[in-house]
Amino acid sequence: MSKLDVLVLPGDGIGPEVTTQGLAILKRACELGGIALALEEGPFGGASIDRHGEPITAPVLDRARAADAVLLGACGGPKWDNLPTDRRPEKGLLGLRAHMEVFANLRPAKLFTALAEASPLKPERAIAGGKPFDFVVVRELVGGLYFGKPRFIKGDPGARVGANTMTYTEDEIRRIGRVAFETARRRKKKLTSVDKSNVLEVMALWREVMTALGKEYPDVALDHLYVDNAAMQMILRPADFDVLVTENMFGDILSDLAAAATGSIGLLPSAALGEKCALYEPVHGSAPDIAGQGKANPLAAILTIAMLLEHSARRADLASAVNGAVEDVLSAGMRTPDLARPGETPVGTAAMGAAVLAKLEQRLS
Ligand code: IPM
Ligand code: MG
Repeated sequence: MSKLDVLVLPGDGIGPEVTTQGLAILKRACELGGIALALEEGPFGGASIDRHGEPITAPVLDRARAADAVLLGACGGPKWDNLPTDRRPEKGLLGLRAHMEVFANLRPAKLFTALAEASPLKPERAIAGGKPFDFVVVRELVGGLYFGKPRFIKGDPGARVGANTMTYTEDEIRRIGRVAFETARRRKKKLTSVDKSNVLEVMALWREVMTALGKEYPDVALDHLYVDNAAMQMILRPADFDVLVTENMFGDILSDLAAAATGSIGLLPSAALGEKCALYEPVHGSAPDIAGQGKANPLAAILTIAMLLEHSARRADLASAVNGAVEDVLSAGMRTPDLARPGETPVGTAAMGAAVLAKLEQRLS
């Protein structure tokens, strides 16, 4: 029997409630798939600030590096919003990503056929040739504008200067490029590299390195878009994209745009992969306005479990069963409040989770 050691960091806001639903799916998939699952929970984000005075502690960081996979809920909330930038919950997330060196963030954005109506995009844009859009944003996660130095606010009050820096080495560009080309190779073999090479030197280097790397992947069609144009094209012709690869901050922005196009940010999973470590988190935030009310959509957390099963347990069969179970419940008409349209009666977090679990059992038995 194979083993899977998962560190769970439920975090803040709706994090714990959606993680509970994700874990129920993970446990059952492992039982039915013959995987010995070991789970351990740790404090993270605001919850860790309250208990330990910092958003993530050194022992949790080390435990995260040693685990086969880390599963995260969400972090942050109004309670911690007035802390200085370097002590906020978000700092814990960035520290965790950096410590684990998970440089490749896969953020799939796919329109479920059953939810075509929930997309703000006109059907003729969202669905091309009968196929709803289905692409992956590969976001560089431990470099670029989020991590470049120098970074500071300095000077006298009233005359201060703030700065952040976008930097990439050729090696950093190549390693994210390879993940993106490999991802495209397993899909529709199209890769769009998104940069701002018309303005920024670092992005001119990005384009040069991606172009050179493309020679090693002659089977993948590579094209390039400036980030502003990419945002526009993703709305105008989302079904034309397969894989997009981009800088950390650009990827942050474009992945929210992609999420909105699917109908709800409550649907998007993500995996952050490094050479040795893997961190899984739904793309949505902690949604403090609905936290603790049993209303949150657990599907992003559940789809995140599918990514964990695929990339860390290397069980594509179980991953596709989980993805299929989600499609089943959506086709059956179940909707959480974020997805319900006027006249539809929404279900809560636990009911949605239980419905997916039942479909998963049907699919796996
Ligand atoms: C995301 C989030 C984070 C980011 C925040 C919470 C630090 O927006 O994962 O997209 O900016 O990376
Ligand atoms: Mg974001």
